[in-house]
Amino acid sequence: MIKSEQKRLIGLDMGSSSVKLVELSQDGTSYELERLALVPIGQGDSQEAAKRALSMILESESVQCKAVATSVSGPHVAVRVLRFPQLAREEIEGAVWYEGGQVIAFDINDAYVDYSVLDRQDANGEEGAGRTDVLFVAASKHEVDWRTGTLKESGLEPRFVGVDMLVLLDAALMEPSVPQTVAVLHVGAACTGIGVTQGGATPFVRDLEIGGNAFTHVISAALGVPFSEAETTKVTGASWTPETEQAVRDVASHLIGEIHRSMVYYQTRSHGARVEKMLLCGGSSRLRGLRSSIEDSLGIPVEFWSPMGRVHVDEGRFDMPSVEQLSPFVALAAALAMRSEVA
Ligand SMILES: Nc1ncnc2c1ncn2[C@@H]1O[C@H](COP(=O)(O)OP(=O)(O)OP(=O)(O)O)[C@@H](O)[C@H]1O
Ligand SMILES: [Mg+2]
Repeated sequence: MIKSEQKRLIGLDMGSSSVKLVELSQDGTSYELERLALVPIGQGDSQEAAKRALSMILESESVQCKAVATSVSGPHVAVRVLRFPQLAREEIEGAVWYEGGQVIAFDINDAYVDYSVLDRQDANGEEGAGRTDVLFVAASKHEVDWRTGTLKESGLEPRFVGVDMLVLLDAALMEPSVPQTVAVLHVGAACTGIGVTQGGATPFVRDLEIGGNAFTHVISAALGVPFSEAETTKVTGASWTPETEQAVRDVASHLIGEIHRSMVYYQTRSHGARVEKMLLCGGSSRLRGLRSSIEDSLGIPVEFWSPMGRVHVDEGRFDMPSVEQLSPFVALAAALAMRSEVA
């Protein structure tokens, strides 16, 4: 019997509150956990802090694998479907650069750009005759370069730089019972990512600049305590007052309102395609009552999810309760480590 070659890849998520590393080995379609680490980022310049956190992980975990997949998100990253009248092959590049430059909020000349022409069917089932639809992705060079530069300085080999929500959608599509139209909601500390795809086609991605920090800020104001103390109150749920509850509810309503608007926008663009399920991940997905509030407001099932659910974990090597506890935080790092095409 020929045994397939085992691949290894590190998924690295440089978040604003912590750096997360997941190393997986892959044999065929099964994944084995080799390493798992989360190092909080202290206050200060976030890039310097991220570098320090990464060196701490590399030293303490004696990481051997060099190949890394990482990703970017936020206002300097854009994923859009561009619609043109039918274009000849040689006209597409120029049209994409011109139109892409108009729809993004940063300079396209300082960005890495990637695009692919969508199948007619990918254009959300609408008859696309006489039209060329293009999936356009742009990321500011600065966002990408400081990450790849940091990895190289640390002796690592950046093999893949993706977009957070596209990477998470790809991982969601690998789940065995994923519905036709599925959404992923990734709630972090500084921001929240929303991704929707219908049968794996024409992804819709939006990044909101609101996350767990917004909840901590209102708790801090309601209780008159510093941010760090409010953070503990939020996470433990201890000593919540009616004022805290109200402040948290207000932020949650704002966040859910934004999510709802994105869903409505998606539905309009995709001619009524209804999201059948939302998969919830990221550290702030654990905020008390958030899952059920989103479910009640959107009227669709919302489930906790992490690609870690498909990873085999050797109980002799890892402390299972810790792995379970970290699972929502390392969803993106795990999804990155599953990019077998670059391992
Ligand atoms: N039990 C909990 N309840 C509520 N919030 C929690 C809990 N545990 C962690 N959090 C919040 O999760 C957030 C950290 O999540 P995560 O690691 O996904 O963010 P990040 O990747 O660093 O941030 P970002 O992606 O926005 O830059 C923090 O805001 C933290 O307060
Ligand atoms: Mg994050």
